[in-house]
Amino acid sequence: MTPAPRFVPGLTPLLPAGAVLEEADRLAVVAAALDLQITSGATSQQFERQMARHLGLRKAHLTNSGSSANLLALSALTSPLLEDRRLQPGDEVITVAAGFPTTVNPILQNGLLPVFVDIELGTYNTSPERIERAIGPKTRAIMIAHALGNPFAATEIARLADERGLLLVEDNCDALGSTEAGRLTGTFGDLSTISFYPAHHITTGEGGCVLTDNLALARIVESMRDWGRDCWCEPGEDNRCRKRFSCQLGRMPYGYDHKYVFSHVGYNLKSTDLQAAMGLTQLAKVEDFGAARRANWRQLHDRLEGLPGLLLPRATPNSDPSWFGFVITVLHDAPFAPGELVDFLEARRIGTRRFFAGNLTRHPAYLDRPMRIAGDLDNSDIVTDRTFWIGVHPRLTAEMVEYMAASIEEFVRQRYHRPGPTVANLQQSGALA
Ligand SMILES: Cc1ncc(COP(=O)(O)O)c(C=O)c1O
Repeated sequence: MTPAPRFVPGLTPLLPAGAVLEEADRLAVVAAALDLQITSGATSQQFERQMARHLGLRKAHLTNSGSSANLLALSALTSPLLEDRRLQPGDEVITVAAGFPTTVNPILQNGLLPVFVDIELGTYNTSPERIERAIGPKTRAIMIAHALGNPFAATEIARLADERGLLLVEDNCDALGSTEAGRLTGTFGDLSTISFYPAHHITTGEGGCVLTDNLALARIVESMRDWGRDCWCEPGEDNRCRKRFSCQLGRMPYGYDHKYVFSHVGYNLKSTDLQAAMGLTQLAKVEDFGAARRANWRQLHDRLEGLPGLLLPRATPNSDPSWFGFVITVLHDAPFAPGELVDFLEARRIGTRRFFAGNLTRHPAYLDRPMRIAGDLDNSDIVTDRTFWIGVHPRLTAEMVEYMAASIEEFVRQRYHRPGPTVANLQQSGALA
């Protein structure tokens, strides 16, 4: 593999996200391609088993994206097989207003009503109190994401869900490897999801996964992912279900080929073995990736702590996040607009991203949608106006992270008219060499 080009401050793009793809990944994909493993097969099953084992859960099902995983997870909760626990049109699902759209979209796509709660500044997660206050007579489930890798109060929210008879879907797309109370995120909910898009902790290119410890839910997920069929034989496999020509379901005749009996109104959201091959090589490195993310986040935090005008991110109590990014909110009394800092960083090729959608309820797509807003969304609005994030991914070296921190410090000190080291000074002194 070609060595990484030399870092040139101000010229080398420091993107907010980036996958680490190495020789092992390349070889795995090429080997799968040479084998023409172009659909979902044995390698996908192996990756599913390893993902499930990695999280200590019984089942994982690969999908073609994290968004598909979210759609599948929530749709599974509408299955008639859940009888009176199933979500029905008009039921409410509590979610947060500030985040990624496809955490929320499955609620609307299933004819359910999103109930939006606000988040906290600093952790960017909602709280058990906000969720508790939002619960109404029609509330049946909670679906929320761990914000940019920072776990929400999962123990308490899972306990609340349990006490109030609510189902919990954890969108763990941005938080693979994070822990709360010593337990991996993605293991608290009835179902959880992961994204393998390159910005995420491990990648398969496009891809995602639904995980659960509940075998009944796992069956529903598999059925809905695979066209809605009742049979669980792999494509090309005959009669592992032992009822291929010997069952009667719905109003179909006895003995109708089980392969073509449908117990759900499903989708095809499968992934391929080409992607699973890379998933296996990536999963082998997940601990190293997490360590690099934590180290980069810590370096930024240590360097920026105490700077005026900025609210730095903080981990949720009792958690150890495997960070997705480093979130900064510009305080309302800072002598500069958030956009000025963003422009300054972008001009130095330090890539920034908004806190995803900000307040989703203000976007054109959601203006006329049915929803309930519980309390106010003041912090979601602040985040929309004043929050952005920069990268902590494992491709960033300590030298790059130092340049990012020094640039922010230089901008802020200039605006507060305080002398301090500039990037030019640091370069001269060799600190950035
Ligand atoms: C919290 C969250 N959920 C879901 C997704 C969707 O994942 P994908 O891009 O794989 O569809 C993302 C994407 O970044 C995300 O950040």
